[in-house]
Amino acid sequence: MKKDILLLGAPGAGKGTQAKFLEKEYNLIKIDTGNIIRNTIKEATELGMQAKKYVEQGKLVPDELVINLIVNTAKQIKQQQKNFLLDGFPRNLQQAKALEENKLFLDLVIEIESSAENLIERISNRRLCTNKNCGGVFNLKSNKSKQENICDFCGSSLYQRDDDKEELIKTRFETYLKETLPLSEFYSKQNKLIKIDGNKDVEEVWESIKKYLSKN
Ligand code: AP5
Ligand code: MG
Repeated sequence: MKKDILLLGAPGAGKGTQAKFLEKEYNLIKIDTGNIIRNTIKEATELGMQAKKYVEQGKLVPDELVINLIVNTAKQIKQQQKNFLLDGFPRNLQQAKALEENKLFLDLVIEIESSAENLIERISNRRLCTNKNCGGVFNLKSNKSKQENICDFCGSSLYQRDDDKEELIKTRFETYLKETLPLSEFYSKQNKLIKIDGNKDVEEVWESIKKYLSKN
């Protein structure tokens, strides 16, 4: 399969979880924007220091800080004749247009839909891998790691994200509805969008995605 793919969905819908399977199965290069931003914050780079206050408030980091970074990363992947898997970018119409202006066209947009109840429950119990190159995602209730607090993929320890607090989850969801959900219509009009029921368990969601990709 040679496709450039975007994973779309609300906070906690399961983008990162499915991205981990997709990159491995189809040899895609993942661009996890949220993770990239969290790393810049941890490393206190110039970008990180500016991005921090937005992430802490559940708002989008301004386009001028994010667009060049992600567009350049995607361009490098294309120069290497590889396919990218975008998780968390574009997140508004301006970002979507920036991709096209840079001749970066998506082949497929997979929207993972999930109920608001599920999202809150999932995010509150999420644990992530501390290895910045891994991106392993687990859940204390629905998607436990085999060994407590240890990543199944790389053996590093797990942690809880600073923005996974209940009061922030609500703001992040509102930001999603206002800024990101319009992308569903944007890509639907381009006949690139498929919707996947994300309320099922992790394996079933993965099976639905694989089934679609094997036929198309
Ligand atoms: P980002 O890191 O992208 O966060 P998000 O969009 O809020 O999405 P999440 O990572 O919270 O959810 P997910 O869909 O990946 O779910 P996951 O697979 O982990 O962005 C963070 C911040 O960075 C933003 O708020 C913003 O400030 C900034 N930012 C990022 N991109 C930006 C951009 N383009 N422009 C500007 N700012 C940007 O799953 C969640 C949990 O559920 C896990 O515990 C998992 O194990 C579990 N789970 C997953 N699937 C299932 C299932 N089917 N059943 C049961 N449990 C499941
Ligand atoms: Mg994620």
